[in-house]
Amino acid sequence: MNIRHFRSLLDINRKEFIRILDRSLEIKKLSRENHLPNSLSKKTLALIFKKNSTRTRVSMETAINKLGGNAVYISHLTSQIARGESIKDTGKVLSGMVDFIAIRTHEHSELLELCEIASVPVINALTQKFHPCQLLADMLTFYEEKGSFENRTFSWVGDGCNMCNSYINASKILRFNLKIATPNGFEPDASVLNASSDTVELCDLPGKAVENSDLVTTDVWASMGDEEDHERRKVLFKGYQINQNMMDKANKDAIFLHCLPAHRDEEVTSEVIDGPTSRVWEQSHNRLYTTQALLEFLAEVNV
Ligand code: CP
Ligand code: NVA
Repeated sequence: MNIRHFRSLLDINRKEFIRILDRSLEIKKLSRENHLPNSLSKKTLALIFKKNSTRTRVSMETAINKLGGNAVYISHLTSQIARGESIKDTGKVLSGMVDFIAIRTHEHSELLELCEIASVPVINALTQKFHPCQLLADMLTFYEEKGSFENRTFSWVGDGCNMCNSYINASKILRFNLKIATPNGFEPDASVLNASSDTVELCDLPGKAVENSDLVTTDVWASMGDEEDHERRKVLFKGYQINQNMMDKANKDAIFLHCLPAHRDEEVTSEVIDGPTSRVWEQSHNRLYTTQALLEFLAEVNV
């Protein structure tokens, strides 16, 4: 059988994306009414994490538990991965024991290697290139409040990192306009960008990217793995901070999102993150519901 993995958002089409968002909203409602189904009864999710996490780990473990399944967290520090067992050998073993494997790692190629040999669906829980699970929650946060993506403009300001690449993928699938402003040398992945050239515009100035925007978002200036470059970036990224001045350039009812964790008063001011346009806490809570809908989806399409 050809397994359907979730390597990036490009593994789902528009109809499936909306289906996952609609199901997330249903699950959210059922959860609040205390009527969640046992839709993942006896299913197990393995989490191979080679980088730190709060939201992704907790949302994934909680997501499957609440739907009747269970999760096993595998740290690269305490498992045999620490002693050199390859991702392929690890994946072959886990495929015979669990129903899904989520991986958070550095190189995107390692995730692809795992997908090549895994006989259960693999979920990208963040690589240097993409963070598709986070985008499901971001899009749910907008969809829940504003209803649709057509003729909307979203803005990315800051580092052209994994989150930015995933916003580019989302714009291609959901057909919103995406305006991006990054300092020189910090542009998003060229091949990701080229594949979405009709929905994405690169702007020279952050203020330009934010004009007429319905959603403004950013991320830390130094992602996991880039910490050594942080001090240099603080200088280069000056002017790319999302502050009230910047938010005032967006549409009146624009919302602010951030995948978190944030470096307060660096890429975003506390005034904005704690202010009336911010939806970052709803966005983080939505990670739970979108993960539940994603797991159900992968279980359904991989029967
Ligand atoms: N947004 C996000 O993925 O957070 P964690 O790194 O805490 O999982
Ligand atoms: N771009 C960030 C996202 C963290 C959730 C990183 O990769 O560290």
